[in-house]
Amino acid sequence: METIQADIAIIGAGGAGLRAAIAAAEADPHLTIALVSKVYPMRSHTCAAEGGAAGAVKADDSLEHHFNDTVGGGDWLSDQDAVEYFVKEAPRELVQLEHWGCPWNREPDGSVAVRPFGGMEIKRTWFAADKSGFHILHTLYQTSLKYPSIKFYDEFYATDLLVDDGHCRGLTAIEMRSGRMYQFRARAVIIAGGGAGRMFPFSTNGSIKTGDGMALAYRAGVPLKDMEFVQYHPTGLPNTGILLTEGCRGEGGILVNAHGRRYLQDYGLGPETAVGKLVLKTMELGPRDRLSQAFWHEQQKGNTIPTPWGDCVYLDMRHLGEKLIDERLPFVRELATSYLGVDPVKDMVPIRPVVHYMMGGIHTDIRAATPLGGLFAAGECACVSINGANRLGSNSLTELLVFGRRAALSAIEHLNSDAQAGNDAALSAQAQAAQDRIRALFMRPVGTESISGLRREMMDTMELNAGIYRTEKGLAEAAMKLAELRRRYAAGVSLHDKTNVYNTDLLQALELGSMLDCAEALVLSGLARKESRGAHQRLDFTGRDDMNYLKHSLAYYHPSEPPRIDYCKVVVTKSQPGVRNYSGDKK
Ligand code: FUM
Repeated sequence: METIQADIAIIGAGGAGLRAAIAAAEADPHLTIALVSKVYPMRSHTCAAEGGAAGAVKADDSLEHHFNDTVGGGDWLSDQDAVEYFVKEAPRELVQLEHWGCPWNREPDGSVAVRPFGGMEIKRTWFAADKSGFHILHTLYQTSLKYPSIKFYDEFYATDLLVDDGHCRGLTAIEMRSGRMYQFRARAVIIAGGGAGRMFPFSTNGSIKTGDGMALAYRAGVPLKDMEFVQYHPTGLPNTGILLTEGCRGEGGILVNAHGRRYLQDYGLGPETAVGKLVLKTMELGPRDRLSQAFWHEQQKGNTIPTPWGDCVYLDMRHLGEKLIDERLPFVRELATSYLGVDPVKDMVPIRPVVHYMMGGIHTDIRAATPLGGLFAAGECACVSINGANRLGSNSLTELLVFGRRAALSAIEHLNSDAQAGNDAALSAQAQAAQDRIRALFMRPVGTESISGLRREMMDTMELNAGIYRTEKGLAEAAMKLAELRRRYAAGVSLHDKTNVYNTDLLQALELGSMLDCAEALVLSGLARKESRGAHQRLDFTGRDDMNYLKHSLAYYHPSEPPRIDYCKVVVTKSQPGVRNYSGDKK
């Protein structure tokens, strides 16, 4: 097996991975950096982000406001030291992107434009029309090309971490073009592999988001933190799950039910305002968890609109006018027209909540370091945790910049303190074992279990039992089902395609393994959290319980049993847990 040596190996070349690579290359041009990615960098899911990135820069805003919105929005499960670091670094990162060429929208006076986003007291979302992620990813990618020390290993699927003496020393990866396995030896590894939303059937996530980075760390002994917190975005296109950005509501779009009522006023989200008049943090500009939960209640009451793709409500943007829509929401218009045949300039657009983001992920500290020496994580795959129980829209693009850079700086600190490469023979034996597992998959005769069949059963289980509202019974059923699916996967999954070149059958088998592990961590963490907080809502434990559950869950992997669930403290510095108030009433 060929060995590639690097000082730092980064898994994932989306926003967080690219930002980490640039930071490492800038800090020390002599470092060798291997950027290992399942897809070409510009196909990473950061590309799909639409609405923008939050950072306090305007005169009426402050770091304190951004901090308070984020911590309250997260239902006090955020680590407040991490949030403080995040809001402080955010403006610098966004200005840095500007200097690298990101085409942020401008105000008429030439200053950077910001738009309102949900759960925020003040407008602070920088945006590039409704293709912010595309432009950010482009900016990062073109900047990364300036650095000869960054070597791209595109379309390499990472299968295992190499661990010796309590330190991560590299990884193994399959080059999809040839089917060949490589071992990457590195003194520090950063995982930036994105989320795992594809374990649900209806998701904004691209098909690449299968939790591979999370599973790599998890199987190497690093716990997954707060996995039960899954964000539903309130406005997905009902037939495809494609996101219609929160920017639609930030620009003044409203939500109405089957009777034409702006129903959010019935769920503690403020009094109805005149159409076109925005009151921040209320109604359509409430936080995502509350809006998605309101939809669920409307559905229970029969106030939604049945469609061939499930029950919907309407997003009405007609009053915004063609000029504004074409200037600020051109992609939304294109998506609604192409995929649904409705033009937001003239028609109301049916939408429904859709799985969008994982608040949980690889347990890291504020330095983006995991408990495993030499292993760091950033972006959606990581839980640092700034998002707590519910992320505010537009914090994630900023998060991947802030903590992508932070992970690189921490990795360099690690290189300076731990120069060892690890035991060569032990690491090679691990790499060989990883290759043998893949070979065994090829050798296994084709059986009755199909990858797509197991995946469908997993998705249906998650949708049915781990959605917007959950119960003990549903979660327990999901836990049993997932244990069964993991057993069936281990015993029976096989490949129809036995060839080496771009073997997507193999890729999907490995991705399914990652999703099953992440799904089990999610369900078991949810089962153990007997309270309702943020995006984790239990019909049987309806209140937030700070006495017992103001703590992060940690799921520890076991190869053949359900994960062990443990907890760690939430860092509370200056904001004591309080009541989340989105009513517009300041008292
Ligand atoms: O609605 C959006 O544009 C999504 C943004 C986000 O998830 O941060």
